Amino acid sequence: MSVYARIRGTGSYLPERVMTNRELEALVDTSDEWIRERTGICQRHIAAPGETCGDLSTAAARRALDAADMPADSIDLVILATSTPDQVFPSTACLIQQRLGIPGGAIAFDVAAACSGFVYALDIANRFLRTGGARRALVMGAETFSRILNWEDRSTCVLFGDGAGAVVLERSGSAGVLSTHLHADGRQEPLLNVPWGVAKGYDAVFADPASGKVTMRGNEVFKVAVRTLGAVVDETLAANGMARGDIDWLVPHQANIRIMAATARKLGMPMERVVVTVDRHGNTSAASIPLALDVAVRDGRIQREQVLLLEAFGAGFTWGSALIRY
Ligand code: UT7
Repeated sequence: MSVYARIRGTGSYLPERVMTNRELEALVDTSDEWIRERTGICQRHIAAPGETCGDLSTAAARRALDAADMPADSIDLVILATSTPDQVFPSTACLIQQRLGIPGGAIAFDVAAACSGFVYALDIANRFLRTGGARRALVMGAETFSRILNWEDRSTCVLFGDGAGAVVLERSGSAGVLSTHLHADGRQEPLLNVPWGVAKGYDAVFADPASGKVTMRGNEVFKVAVRTLGAVVDETLAANGMARGDIDWLVPHQANIRIMAATARKLGMPMERVVVTVDRHGNTSAASIPLALDVAVRDGRIQREQVLLLEAFGAGFTWGSALIRY
């Protein structure tokens, strides 16, 4: 009998504070019209002072556990995808484990793959569950990107938002995750990065605060993202012997509505079959896919047994996809 990792429940959490494009007009030389036309973003959520990635993740995880109707103490694998962890160490996954009351002895760690982080985390959980290394997994993507944005740089600060999404997966005899496809190309690092790291020492950030913030050559990233996502979508369909029409829902990373539209065109899918949250959430990096998934599950668009294609592209570069029978 084949064994799969099946999604049992989804959850998400967004900080209360909403920041509109109009508010950004007061901070940098931009306009609501430019942001909407170039990205599809109308607003984003911003974490409150002191509200951390671990806080957002824990709230999303509680909702996913409720939806799955499973107690936290039945989880034996915790993976958090993030680029904005609460501390250098321990992993934020361990902090979440403790707060949710997931028993000592479970496996818990963070994954850093920027905007592709959730797809990376899902791939890892899938392997654990299929091989029997774990039975029930909590997989999250969460970010507090507002803390690493340069609020004087209009080319990046208008794009990102904070939030968290979570899924509970379980070993199952009926179909779940059908395939995952991960890739990276570290040569492209300078196009999208936060150039500060522990290697440079804290004093470097204090001397030059901008070095601790996101930098992106957006237009170059855009072109590679469209091309690369087209290729990974082809790879995913071929690996499963599926045709374009076999996909019920595209649940893409929410970086830019124009990138999502390009992937939908490639798949011959109307935009009604694409889950879009970038208008309300902005780009929440590793959180964007599980957030979008949860929105579409809760509003009833995504139904059991439907086929979902998840895809993401981000810093590294990293990219990947997952095909799921929900
Ligand atoms: O999630 C991880 C991966 N990241 C992505 O996938 C992001 C990919 N990139 C993008 O989504 C788009 O490239 C952006 C939304 C970042 C930018 O859109 P674009 O159509 O590629 O614009 P651009 O960078 O070519 O800039 C066009 C113009 C420039 O002005 P000039 O040189 O034509 O006079 C920019 O200076 O728009 C200007 N600009 C802005 N204007 C108003 C850049 N940012 C802004 C802004 N408001 N916020």
